[in-house]
Amino acid sequence: MREPDAEPPAEPPAGALLRGWRKRALLTQEQLAERAGLNVRTVRRLESSRLWHPRTRSILLLAEALELDGEEQAMLVAVTRGLPAPAHRDDPEGTGPPPAALTVPRQLPADVATLVGRRRELAILEAYQGANTVTVVSIDGMAGTGKTALAVRAAHRLAPRYPDGQLFVNLHGHARSMTPIEPGEALARLLRTLGVPGEHIPRHLDDRAALYRSVLADRKVLIVLDDAADEQQILPLLPAGSNCRLIVTSRRRLTCLDDIRSLSLETLPTMDAVALFTRMAGRERVMGTPVHVLTEVVRRCGLLPLAVRIATVRFRAHPTWSVRHLLDRLTDDPLAELSAGRHSVAAALDLSYERLSTEQRHAYRVLGSRTSTDFGVVAAAALLRTTERQARQLLDQLSDAHLVQEPAPGRYRLHDLVRDHASAVRVASRVPPDLAAAIASPPR
Ligand SMILES: Nc1ncnc2c1ncn2[C@@H]1O[C@H](COP(=O)(O)OP(=O)(O)O)[C@@H](O)[C@H]1O
Ligand SMILES: [Mg+2]
Repeated sequence: MREPDAEPPAEPPAGALLRGWRKRALLTQEQLAERAGLNVRTVRRLESSRLWHPRTRSILLLAEALELDGEEQAMLVAVTRGLPAPAHRDDPEGTGPPPAALTVPRQLPADVATLVGRRRELAILEAYQGANTVTVVSIDGMAGTGKTALAVRAAHRLAPRYPDGQLFVNLHGHARSMTPIEPGEALARLLRTLGVPGEHIPRHLDDRAALYRSVLADRKVLIVLDDAADEQQILPLLPAGSNCRLIVTSRRRLTCLDDIRSLSLETLPTMDAVALFTRMAGRERVMGTPVHVLTEVVRRCGLLPLAVRIATVRFRAHPTWSVRHLLDRLTDDPLAELSAGRHSVAAALDLSYERLSTEQRHAYRVLGSRTSTDFGVVAAAALLRTTERQARQLLDQLSDAHLVQEPAPGRYRLHDLVRDHASAVRVASRVPPDLAAAIASPPR
């Protein structure tokens, strides 16, 4: 006769399931613990259903020791996470998650091989710890300052502290021909990655967010949310427990979130930018170039890592160019020069511009084409033909979007490449539609 608990019931508690599988494998609790490399107390507590939310690693080890198949693994994950067990094998509709549900997610993109500088920022990213809550650091800065590169480097360094996984989601806050990802969609992706079968993901946003917080409650997971559009997009994606860490990058300053450490990423110091140029262009080709020429090249690139990278791509594509020749070209028309294949500074700035309101766009075009140095609110109000209050508000909004800098309280300026971009956009916006269409259509 079969033992009463040898066969798991339809929706069994984790303890009964485990006991059934252990007996099927003809193992004692001690033998299972030894085979899985776990403490026997852990096995006992799991079987008596006193240990809720065991670590993903422990589940993985038990599944291996018990030689569970994919469906059984999915069932074990579901019951230990307090979810309804996936459909049974006999259910023709039952799909269950793939065996991958038990693998620890390691989604970080490759680290930048030649990250220069950023020591201070890395130290902050690694050292910051939220008080009794999830640790969140946001990195904001203009397009191409190296937010993603920095977040990825920091995440690789922090990964060993988060053994239950490292997740990476591109939220497409500023992506070409794509709207930002809806929080509900991002949650569904995160939940699937965390092992929740698709059919158990709730329909409503709040329920998804609640399940996400439950699933992460006892896991040590590091999550990188790259290119967030705004606070609303990331709020539902914040876990609750202090055991998780989030790194968020955004072109916008995320001002409305409590308890987060914000890091505004500036362009590179001149010597770091020169180091980046030299490494990427190739030392042998740069050798012998006077330092002031190199310095001027990176200044023309606005000390922006994206621009320096693109300049080196152009330089390498033209083996006959000297650094001085590159400098001449950058002096003539920097934005035109800083474009290589898919990568272009102008295109990156276009995406920031597209996210502005009509009023902000107007202010951007006017300020970009009519100012050359620092300016104050009074001058901005005069240029925009508006009140000082309104001008201040617009400047704050453009500053939050990192299209205007505030080097000193009440003083504003535009980054050189941003100013070039704003002027170009202004010229383009003044071309009558008929003429624009004629320019765009091919000649007969
Ligand atoms: N400190 C750095 N050292 C080397 N390369 C960098 C650095 N910062 C950024 N980059 C490179 O510059 C380009 C733009 O950086 P990225 O992180 O994509 O910018 P952002 O996310 O701010 O738009 C990428 O090719 C990136 O690898
Ligand atoms: Mg980025």
